Amino acid sequence: MGQVRNFDSEVQELIEGLNVDLANEYASAIMYTNYAAVVSGIHTPMLRSFFEAEIGDEQGHAQYLATKIRTLGGTPVTAPADIPQTFDVRAMLESARDAEAATIERYVERRQQAEALGMIELQNKLDDLIDDETGHKEQIERMLEDLHLS
Ligand SMILES: [Fe+2]
Ligand SMILES: [Fe+2]
Repeated sequence: MGQVRNFDSEVQELIEGLNVDLANEYASAIMYTNYAAVVSGIHTPMLRSFFEAEIGDEQGHAQYLATKIRTLGGTPVTAPADIPQTFDVRAMLESARDAEAATIERYVERRQQAEALGMIELQNKLDDLIDDETGHKEQIERMLEDLHLS
């Protein structure tokens, strides 16, 4: 006999995971806001416009997740995950790249949870989020290479 599934506890696990994702989206928006403000050096104009362009994307992701968590019956968190503070350009790009990579991994897991629960819209949206974050990560990797920082 197959294992009996408990949909309620699977949904609770999904909500907990989405709240981790939400805290990290808030953190990303703050991180990019902070880096855009404090970046210095000869690459400042390019890096500042890149960081600024990310802020809206991450805020949009947070807004989607907060609404979804509420729709699923959960309580969206209000506090961001920890954000590394740095004034070093390479450290900024590396921490942004690592945050994007970790986010992609979490969304792949979240997508599997959504699929197991038959939540097609969430599953599709997570595909879109994975696309967005992969684009961010690849842009950062290119900048690390172009600036000879990798
Ligand atoms: Fe995001
Ligand atoms: Fe991102």
